[in-house]
Amino acid sequence: MKSIKLIKGCDLTFNNAIQEGQYVLLYLDKKRKWLVKILKDAKIHTHVGYVTLNTLIGKSYGSSIESSLGVTLWALKPTIEDYALKAERKTQVVYPKDMGMIAVKTGVSSGSIVVEAGTGSGVLCMFLANLVRPNGHVYSYEIRKEFLELAKKNLEKAGLSKYVTLKEADARKGLDVVNADVAIIDVGDPWSLVKPMYNALKGGGMLAAICPTMNQVEKLVEELKANNFIDIESMEVIVRGLEARMGMTRPVTRMIAHTAYLTFARKTQPSDKG
Ligand SMILES: C[S@@+](CC[C@H](N)C(=O)[O-])C[C@H]1O[C@@H](n2cnc3c(N)ncnc32)[C@H](O)[C@@H]1O
Repeated sequence: MKSIKLIKGCDLTFNNAIQEGQYVLLYLDKKRKWLVKILKDAKIHTHVGYVTLNTLIGKSYGSSIESSLGVTLWALKPTIEDYALKAERKTQVVYPKDMGMIAVKTGVSSGSIVVEAGTGSGVLCMFLANLVRPNGHVYSYEIRKEFLELAKKNLEKAGLSKYVTLKEADARKGLDVVNADVAIIDVGDPWSLVKPMYNALKGGGMLAAICPTMNQVEKLVEELKANNFIDIESMEVIVRGLEARMGMTRPVTRMIAHTAYLTFARKTQPSDKG
């Protein structure tokens, strides 16, 4: 019989052991999950008893662990969504449903150069950093020092800070980035950043803006039209979950309704006709 050679991703023992210093998503059920750092003497106290985390060292992600009250929890490898949802926040943040559309529409991917204003809590920034790594980079501008410090902490926790340069500055005053592939705007007055972002982008570069209200979208779109952006598209992303149960599958009762409107546009060079 022919032997089957395992390729790396299919070898369940390959690099999948939990190590000291790594983060684990401790999963009890959909609503009760904890993002915990595995340290030799760390314990986490929950309402189903405490969990001694060091017993996970050397075990494979996906393993179970028992709490002191005998309840089973699961040690899962955190995804970028877990880091984003568990990040400490002091500002409005971008939600996963909107991040997905931003990725598709801008085409941001490994190797991309991204310029972002404002950083806020760094949640969108960490998603972008995860997409551009290992050869791309995110340059992110934030006017308020306390938010930059928080974003730095959140990025470090997700292991993504080396793909990001955080800059404390008012992005309206100009950006020291040129030839960026993608520009992201998430500030209250996005129209004021159209010109600086135009200068930072390469020809054909993609811009994405996040606006909580429609009047922001209107002002932004007018400014984009006046500044050589084309293919302008605004939208809202609505996600409705399903409760899947045999014979009883139906939409969830509660959902995240409004978060923000997204606007996308492409930079063109001024036409020769003037
Ligand atoms: C809604 S928050 C951004 C949230 C971020 N996208 C996230 O997912 O965590 C907007 C941020 O823009 C910053 N900001 C506003 N105007 C700015 C400007 N002109 N230059 C740089 N940052 C600015 C604010 O201080 C605030 O932290």
